[in-house]
Amino acid sequence: RRRVAILISGRGSNMSALIEAAKAPDYPAEIVGVLSNRAAAPGLVTAAEHGIATASLAQSKFPNREMFEDVMTQTLEGWHVDIVCLAGFMRILGEDFVNHWAGRLINIHPSLLPHYKGLDTHARALADGATTHGCTVHFVTPGLDEGAPILQAEVPVLPGDTPDTLAERVLVAEHRIYPEALRLLASGQVAVRA
Ligand code: GAR
Repeated sequence: RRRVAILISGRGSNMSALIEAAKAPDYPAEIVGVLSNRAAAPGLVTAAEHGIATASLAQSKFPNREMFEDVMTQTLEGWHVDIVCLAGFMRILGEDFVNHWAGRLINIHPSLLPHYKGLDTHARALADGATTHGCTVHFVTPGLDEGAPILQAEVPVLPGDTPDTLAERVLVAEHRIYPEALRLLASGQVAVRA
């Protein structure tokens, strides 16, 4: 089983979906650590309740982003991690970190990429009058939300949707495709060319 760490900043519902999926005996990955850039992230409590190692590192405590990310990589390597999953990790990662983990670093984003990179995806989709929306699991590359997609799920935009109701519908799909995408990567069924 491939050793996986999850990077979070908050709630950690996608993290929970990955933890639950990894409980299946035939799942090709195990979650060995959860790292947050916010000590108060509720997801850290959930991870600890599952007996998973946790760490929190505040970027503000480091002189610069490079040093923060070096310590993140050291923490992950201390856990002997093969694959890193970003799950609501709300920091942009620098090129050194991304290149170090290239091909082994994936993210979930709440839109049908390449539409709506960045933040506030649900409000932007509604403002545009989009009729469908969704989520994407993709490889992370230095360009924000630009790496090759692994899986996408589409959900309808319904009359009367608010950013919150739309986010809720998309989140259900996120919890379905993230474990599936990690399964594909951990079992070697998807890869990126170097
Ligand atoms: C999720 O909807 C995820 O797709 C999004 O943040 C939420 C985190 O929720 N990620 C991004 O916007 C990345 N730019 P969670 O902590 O409950 O998984």
